[in-house]
Amino acid sequence: MCQPKQIAVDDPRFLELDTFLKKLQGEKGIAMIALQKAQQLFGYLPLEVHKHISAFTGISVAELYGVSSFYSQFLLEAEGKHRISVCMGTACYVKGSQKVLDKLCELLNIKVGEVSSDGLFSITAARCIGCCGLAPVIMIDEEVYANIVDLNELEQILDSYRSKEAAAVTVSVASADNKGEAEDLA
Ligand code: FES
Repeated sequence: MCQPKQIAVDDPRFLELDTFLKKLQGEKGIAMIALQKAQQLFGYLPLEVHKHISAFTGISVAELYGVSSFYSQFLLEAEGKHRISVCMGTACYVKGSQKVLDKLCELLNIKVGEVSSDGLFSITAARCIGCCGLAPVIMIDEEVYANIVDLNELEQILDSYRSKEAAAVTVSVASADNKGEAEDLA
């Protein structure tokens, strides 16, 4: 089953975070500063990072989550360029959303909370997104994809995003080439 990946306890970024936190001892507002630094180092703030900061500072994990979930600057999960939200609400779950989630993880070779190797996609398990009559449902960014009963559809959906990205790269390379030619002629 597709579960979130954990950051290893011996990850060297924890040492860097500790060095930073030592310098802050005794100061006010440490929770905010610690979380900002941790996000800078890890890119997002999973549970193990909250636990680590808690152990080091004595601030409870609940209090840290109170801060990190309140401010939109903090990411609780890693994010790719396109965020795939798989609805795990009751209606979608009954209609097979777990299989949808597992298939997406398999296709992208990632787990929930990770980013695909090309940086394009991340996966998150979401609560009901309000389209229960169309279950099972996923969202990619703001776009809703309904009735995902044929799992083969998922590959086509992902490919449509890959194609758009490839086209965008081609256009930007072409416009850079045109600019270069114009400068050569000037
Ligand atoms: S349960 Fe999935 S949209 Fe409501």
